[in-house]
Amino acid sequence: MLTLHSKVAGLHFEPPLILASGILGQTSSSMFISLKGGFGGIVTKSTGLEPREGHQNPTMLELDTGLINAMGLPNQGVDIFKEELKELFQMVDDVPIIGSIFASDEEQFAQLAASMEESGVHAIELNLSCPHAKGYGAALGNDPEMAGTIVLNVSESVNLPVLAKLPPADNIAEIALAVQGAGADGIVAVNTLKAMAIDVETRKPFLGNKVGGYSGPGIKPVGLRCVYETYSEVDIPIIGCGGINTGRDALEYVLAGASALEIGSAIYYRGKKAPSKISNEMMEIMAQEGIDTLEELIGVAHD
Ligand SMILES: Cc1cc2nc3c(=O)[nH]c(=O)nc-3n(C[C@H](O)[C@H](O)[C@H](O)COP(=O)(O)O)c2cc1C
Repeated sequence: MLTLHSKVAGLHFEPPLILASGILGQTSSSMFISLKGGFGGIVTKSTGLEPREGHQNPTMLELDTGLINAMGLPNQGVDIFKEELKELFQMVDDVPIIGSIFASDEEQFAQLAASMEESGVHAIELNLSCPHAKGYGAALGNDPEMAGTIVLNVSESVNLPVLAKLPPADNIAEIALAVQGAGADGIVAVNTLKAMAIDVETRKPFLGNKVGGYSGPGIKPVGLRCVYETYSEVDIPIIGCGGINTGRDALEYVLAGASALEIGSAIYYRGKKAPSKISNEMMEIMAQEGIDTLEELIGVAHD
């Protein structure tokens, strides 16, 4: 019988579609609503040690092929966010909740991860990949040695699975090998691509921060390449992310080597029920192809 589930880093996802960080993951009620839409897990909005305002408006732009955002990691700080998580855990107890964190060095990452662990999250996702927050995210994750140092410090400070969310770098497989060597339990590939847009009438960059992160359908070929190259090198599971808008997109990622999928911008394009729609489309294609479990398809494009 056809079932849609997957195990990643000891966590069971059913379906293996997970809300990506930054989209509906900021409050207990928005996370609860996203679960009702059919997600099998959630990654919270990335949280830092202290409250942070983020970038000036405009912070978001719709293009023909996707979205560019430069939110700049606005968040309430981990102490206040833990209250949101407490409320969420009163509403749900059977779905993996992954706490996403960002910091500027390995010590802060370790301190933040330990604080996040107290909230009861089931895993930690390290944002080593935001392309538009100076000194954070991709500024660290593009360097294999730095990425490895952060993963090592966090792994030693928590008793939870640690997922490293990587940027869409040319050498992503090298970075993935470094974080695997440092003890990562899984890899998330990828975050947004550093990008910009210019307003022809005002003759100025559109976004308040000038550059932002490109997400949505246009980045799928890049995300797929990243998952494919990473799968060739590492043994730990990969969660695919980037431009997954349909069940067919999701299965492409699985064939490239993903064991589960994170989904963000599809909520914008297909509404809050996007994950249910994507699950149904995946199962329709799997039924047509005579496939019973996702496992049969993971990495098959490499054979
Ligand atoms: C508005 C917005 C905010 C985001 N915030 C975060 C964040 O806080 N942390 C993070 O790791 N990724 C963040 N992302 C990146 C997404 O989690 C995801 O990696 C990216 O959008 C690619 O997936 P998609 O094409 O399905 O949206 C954000 C994306 C968007 C569009």
